[in-house]
Amino acid sequence: MSFIGYKKFVEEGDLVVAYLSRENMTTLIMDSKATYNNKFGTFKHKEMIGKQYGTKMPSHNGKGFMYLLHPTPELWTQVLPHRTQILYLADISFITAYLDLKPGSIVLESGTGSGSISHSFARTIAPHGHLYTFEYHEERAKIARQEFKDHGLSDLITIECRDVCKNGFGITNKVHAVFLDLPAPWDAIPAAKEAFKRTRMGKICCFSPCIEQVQKTCTSLNENGFVEIKMFECLLRYHEVKTIPIYTVTDAVASIKTQQAKKRKRKEQEDGNEISEELIISSSNNSNRESANNSSVSSNSKVKQDAPPNLYVSKTPTETKGHTSYMTFATYLPVLYDEQ
Ligand SMILES: C[S@@+](CC[C@H](N)C(=O)[O-])C[C@H]1O[C@@H](n2cnc3c(N)ncnc32)[C@H](O)[C@@H]1O
Repeated sequence: MSFIGYKKFVEEGDLVVAYLSRENMTTLIMDSKATYNNKFGTFKHKEMIGKQYGTKMPSHNGKGFMYLLHPTPELWTQVLPHRTQILYLADISFITAYLDLKPGSIVLESGTGSGSISHSFARTIAPHGHLYTFEYHEERAKIARQEFKDHGLSDLITIECRDVCKNGFGITNKVHAVFLDLPAPWDAIPAAKEAFKRTRMGKICCFSPCIEQVQKTCTSLNENGFVEIKMFECLLRYHEVKTIPIYTVTDAVASIKTQQAKKRKRKEQEDGNEISEELIISSSNNSNRESANNSSVSSNSKVKQDAPPNLYVSKTPTETKGHTSYMTFATYLPVLYDEQ
């Protein structure tokens, strides 16, 4: 299965992303003997094999469906098994752009963690670039190595189990960009500096959740001769699209009057006095639209005729959530010819 290319049809052994809804996706390894069950029904793998990627797949009883998607780094980030905190797309895309990554780039990364950003890096630098990634947790390194292999990325990624803060990277004069997602990136910065290709400009990014880490990182970057040190925070604001009815001022006034009349009626009922239907009608007849919405006084056809037109609006949350980490970027300057 390749994460850097596409194929048309689902085959035995493929990793398929089963898309049930925007918030509900899962991965399936195609096995003609297996069946996938979820709340929408039963899906036999053998019926998925041979289908085109992107197919809308009905469940066995025909009551539910899901889409069969080809894996991509974007989808993988949303479905991967979390072994650590991971990077998400907003930060990944920002980092990729600011590190100036492109096909052919040679990149250094630590720690590998769950391999979320590694997948995106690999696709960006393909087909001739290379990612050297380092993870000191043995089990995590082993699983990530297997995943890179299963996802057809072994030629693009070399993973090594190593404590980069204690032992460095063992790489000199080679890479164009460095990405550090470590608790103490400042301890790895001197070794990262050695890894940069000496004859060209390079970029480094350190990803840290706390501002105290950013301060230490900036000090170390400065002491090690990096320039253009900048820190960014990438916040996401979702826009929820919905429709709302458009009311005029007359509508609004009529609506208030109707509400008041209803309230009065309730109160009178509570007091044991029945209020006549006419009162409600006379309180609300200033508004054709509002009275049309009042089923106690209107026929269905009138509701349809006078219902207010709808307007598409986008609604944003009042609070902007989404701080994952601060991104500290800096530039590595090439060593002058006579310093080499
Ligand atoms: C937050 S995770 C990285 C997540 C990764 N960026 C992703 O998108 O999936 C940090 C990783 O750094 C590793 N790590 C911490 N200190 C390290 C060190 N000194 N050398 C190598 N890896 C280290 C941890 O084991 C952990 O897996």
